[in-house]
Amino acid sequence: MIPCASRLAGIALSPIRAMNEGAPPGTVSLGLGEPSWPLPPAAVKALANSGSACAYGPNQGLPEMRASLAAYYGVSEEQIMVSSGSQAALFALFQAYLERGVSALLPDPGFIAYPVLAKLAGANSVLYPLSATGCLDPDAFIGCLNADESIRLAVINHPGNPTGGGASLEALRAVAEACRARGVVLVSDEVYRELYLGERQASLRDASDYGIVLSSLSKAFGAPGLRVGWAIGEPELLAPARLIHNYMNTAAARPSQLAAVALLDDAPSVLPAMRAELAERWYAFSGTADEALGLNPALPSGSFYSWLPLPPLAHEDPLAFCLKLRDRGRVIIIPGLAFGEAGRGYARVSFAGKPESIREGLRRLAPFWSMP
Ligand SMILES: Cc1ncc(COP(=O)(O)O)c(C=O)c1O
Repeated sequence: MIPCASRLAGIALSPIRAMNEGAPPGTVSLGLGEPSWPLPPAAVKALANSGSACAYGPNQGLPEMRASLAAYYGVSEEQIMVSSGSQAALFALFQAYLERGVSALLPDPGFIAYPVLAKLAGANSVLYPLSATGCLDPDAFIGCLNADESIRLAVINHPGNPTGGGASLEALRAVAEACRARGVVLVSDEVYRELYLGERQASLRDASDYGIVLSSLSKAFGAPGLRVGWAIGEPELLAPARLIHNYMNTAAARPSQLAAVALLDDAPSVLPAMRAELAERWYAFSGTADEALGLNPALPSGSFYSWLPLPPLAHEDPLAFCLKLRDRGRVIIIPGLAFGEAGRGYARVSFAGKPESIREGLRRLAPFWSMP
């Protein structure tokens, strides 16, 4: 067997994908973070009209895409990097600012990809805790930042995956100033920001002109398969990441960018329609969680994730508990441990699926939740 590069040692399939693979037939997944509602008509039309628009585009994104993003964010086109999903922007930023001997400051619990992307760049991960409700705690963040001189890049994610927790304007301001003072690149992952039912969370951009904001079409615009994302920030900070993205992907797919333009330009009607889909799912989720499990889950600040405390009987081996749910109960939820040690007593339950499968999945959990 030909050995692969040593940087891959210890990196395996994401535990979320792994939970979904090998599930018995008929399993209901409350595991995936992907909208189950239809692609908005504006994007369907743009894709249908894209015809033979399959030439390579400019590395930096189609001019109309950059113009739409500039208008949407109220920034100049130089402050925009168009990427193949926000994941490609994350990869490029991590490659651009991390290397052996330096570290990334990452949330615990946090999006599974962050520590893997740091490792692929040869760097270490330093983890900072979130508050008890899964929100950004500026004191904890700044304490960890100031305790480790090797940190070069820090990520905040609000509303966050897996907790759905947010960040106050003051917290964002404090964190941005601390990163600016230390010369640390701050990446604010805001892919879930438009997917809220209560109040819309502040963006890093509302708090500071420092740092890079990431988002994409994948969550609130209901179009993860188009693979279009973007980074917004100072042109000098984006330049090295853009170079990496050019070599990695050349450019985001042209038909997808044309659909992105239609979605961004139609955002005032697309986003409320997406939130109505989210609301329907939240009511299915919270109503059945009460009815079937006697739980009263908190409304997340954004996202379609509920960060549910696991019953005490699951604490010793949360992974075994979730595998039992999958293999005997035929329902998938993701053990919080997959997102970091701080997630040990929790599970991430997604309500992104169709309302009827959300209800069915929660009912299937019931006999296991209270089992002696
Ligand atoms: C917090 C967070 N950031 C980034 C991504 C990547 O999303 P995409 O590449 O589809 O924009 C995800 C996907 O689930 C996510 O949860």
